[in-house]
Amino acid sequence: TGIPKLKIGFNKVFGYYIEVSRSYTDSVPDTFTRKQTLTTGERYITPELKELENKILGANERLLVLEHQLFSDLLTEISDQIVRIQRTASAVAQLDVLAGFAEAALQNNYVLPVVDTSGEIEIKEGRHPVIEQMLKGSLFVPNDTLLDEDENRMLLITGPNMAGKSTYMRQNALIALMAQIGSFVPAASAHLGVVDAIFTRVGASDDLAAGQSTFMVEMTEVAEILKHATRDSLVILDEIGRGTSTFDGMSIARAVVEYICENIGCKTLFATHYHELTSMDQDIHGVKNYNIAVKKRGEDITFLRRIIAGPADDSYGIEVAKLAGLPGSVTKRAHAVLRQLEANAPGRSNTMQLDFETVEAYNNPSVPSEVVDKLHSVDIETLTPLEALNFLYELKTVLDKE
Ligand SMILES: Nc1ncnc2c1ncn2[C@@H]1O[C@H](COP(=O)(O)OP(=O)(O)OP(=O)(O)O)[C@@H](O)[C@H]1O
Ligand SMILES: [Mg+2]
Repeated sequence: TGIPKLKIGFNKVFGYYIEVSRSYTDSVPDTFTRKQTLTTGERYITPELKELENKILGANERLLVLEHQLFSDLLTEISDQIVRIQRTASAVAQLDVLAGFAEAALQNNYVLPVVDTSGEIEIKEGRHPVIEQMLKGSLFVPNDTLLDEDENRMLLITGPNMAGKSTYMRQNALIALMAQIGSFVPAASAHLGVVDAIFTRVGASDDLAAGQSTFMVEMTEVAEILKHATRDSLVILDEIGRGTSTFDGMSIARAVVEYICENIGCKTLFATHYHELTSMDQDIHGVKNYNIAVKKRGEDITFLRRIIAGPADDSYGIEVAKLAGLPGSVTKRAHAVLRQLEANAPGRSNTMQLDFETVEAYNNPSVPSEVVDKLHSVDIETLTPLEALNFLYELKTVLDKE
C-alpha cells in the first residue's frame, strides 16, 4: 500500500482491523472497507483479514476436536495391546514388591525363613519390624518363640504393664505374615509352618455409631475368632475379658482358652493380667506359661524385655501408672487401697491360684430352696396381675430373710 505505518489490532466489537493514521488515509486501497473513524485515523477490514480472524478464533475449538481425536486414536491403539500392557504392569508391580522386600531385608538385617507345612513356628531372636525402627538410641531386645501342634499350642503370656507382651505377640504375627508373602523376616532364624489365617483381638475400642460398646466390640471379635479359626490358624488374643468385672472377665478368658484348646487347637498367643489363669498349664494340655522379665529395685522397675518361661509374679500397674505421670497422691492412695483389698481377700497373693468354685458361686448364686419350691408350685396362667405382684413380693421377702 505504500503506507509506512499500518497497524493490526483487535477489539471485541469489530474483531481484527487495520488502523491507518489520518495522514495516510488517502493511500488506502479500495479493497479496504472502513469500519470506524477515530480522531487520530481510520480502522478498516479486508476479506483476507476476516478470513484469518475466523481461523484464529476457531482455533481453540479445532484444537479440542483434534486433541480428542488423537486421544481416542491412542485408546484404540492401546486397547489392541491391552493384554501385553497389563501383563507388563503386573510384572513390574511384582518386581517392585520383591525389590522392596530385598531392600528391606538388606537394610534391616532380615533372614530367609524356612516355610513348610510342619505346623510349627520356631523363631530365634525375633524382632518387631516397626518398633525396632522407631527405637532411637536404644536397641530392640530380640526374643525366641516356639509354637507347635502339641505341647506348645497356647502361650499364656503374663508380665507387668509396659513389659512388651503386645509387642512380642504382634512381632510373631508379623513374622508369620511376612514369611508367607515371600519376604525375609526380622529374626536370626525362622522356621514357619504355613498358617491358614491370622486372627487378632487387640486393644479397646468402641463403635458407638453402630450400637457397639467397648465390651461388645471385644466380645464380637472373640466370637468371630472362635467361629472361624481352624487348627492351622494363628490367633493373637491381647487381653480378653478386660472391659468387665474381674470375675466375669477372668471366667470368660478361661472359658475361651479352654474352648480353643479343646475344640480348635490353633496356635495361640494369649496375653493377660489375670495371674489366676496361669494355673491352666496344669489342667490343659498345650498351655505354656511365659512372662516378660522386669527387675524391681525398691519402688522402681526396669524393663528387661526378655521373654522367659513361667508365669509373672505381678502386674506392677501402680508403678507403671506412676511412670506415666499419675499424681503422687493418687498412686500413694492406690497402694493403700491395694493393700486393703489384699488384706480383705486372704490368699490373694501373687502365687495364689484362684479358686474357681468361688467364681462359680459368684456367677451362679444359689437360690434358696423355698423360692424354688414356690416358683414350681405357682400356676402363672391363673394369676391375676395383683396376685402376681403379691407373689413377687413374697419371693423377695424370702430372699431378704436369707
Ligand atoms: N523387645 C523389646 N525391645 C525394646 N523395646 C520394647 C520391646 N518390647 C516392647 N518394647 C517397648 O515397650 C513398650 C511397651 O510394650 P507393650 O505395649 O508390648 O507392653 P505390654 O506388656 O503389652 O503392656 P500392657 O500390659 O500395658 O499392655 C513398646 O511401646 C516398646 O516401645
Ligand atoms: Mg499390651
